Amino acid sequence: MERLQKVLAEAGVASRRKCEELITAGRVQVNGETVTALGVKVDAKKDTIHVDGRAIRQQKKVYVLFHKPKGVITSASDPGGRKIVTDFLKDISERIYPVGRLDYDTEGLLLLTNDGEFANLLTHPKHHVPRTYHATVKGVPHGSLLDKLRDGIELEDGMTAPAEVDYYDINPERNETIVSITIYEGRNRQVRRMFDAIQFPVIRLRRVMFGPLALTGVGRGKYRHLTDQEIKELSGQALKSHNIQKGNKHGS
Ligand code: URA
Repeated sequence: MERLQKVLAEAGVASRRKCEELITAGRVQVNGETVTALGVKVDAKKDTIHVDGRAIRQQKKVYVLFHKPKGVITSASDPGGRKIVTDFLKDISERIYPVGRLDYDTEGLLLLTNDGEFANLLTHPKHHVPRTYHATVKGVPHGSLLDKLRDGIELEDGMTAPAEVDYYDINPERNETIVSITIYEGRNRQVRRMFDAIQFPVIRLRRVMFGPLALTGVGRGKYRHLTDQEIKELSGQALKSHNIQKGNKHGS
């Protein structure tokens, strides 16, 4: 059994918040009865649900790996008229939304899905799914600065957790370095802020891995569907990292 507004949102009716408004406005019927209370739970497979007299149908679950280009906003809409990620996914009829976000100027691997539970599992702060980025900076940061990023660095919202950090490529002609950094948290603009803190601002940022998934083989602005195996591995990794964290807390 699931909350009515969640079932409606997952069926693509509207956002969860909007669905709550539809319920309280008396526009939703469950098995022929109008429901206006928000706590009601339904069985999406058995109960008959109508919105404004129209029956809703459960959407099939869709899981997409998208190669987000730079200059695209990770959002369902943009009043400023900028490009949004779903502009690139127009041939997917289900209402999918991004799992977490990438900055406007960040490119790379972005997952989208209509499976709310899966999205929550991957983005919940207590599930430490690794995300790997390639950050390009001007010059060559000293190894001791990379150590700081590795060990944890003070940001305005607190210390960062330990990260894996290595030189990926040094280009003396362009006087640029690409640093590979794997973080286990998803704070806002975290990678950019970490590099700002060592005085090497990021000039290009690309996410190349999310958990076990890599960007390889998916061109910029293109996408592919995840395999069942990948979906299972990702959920497994999120749960495993949660359990490890819990184990550490109890000293085991
Ligand atoms: N860290 C950032 O700074 N930006 C992103 O888009 C993702 C992680």
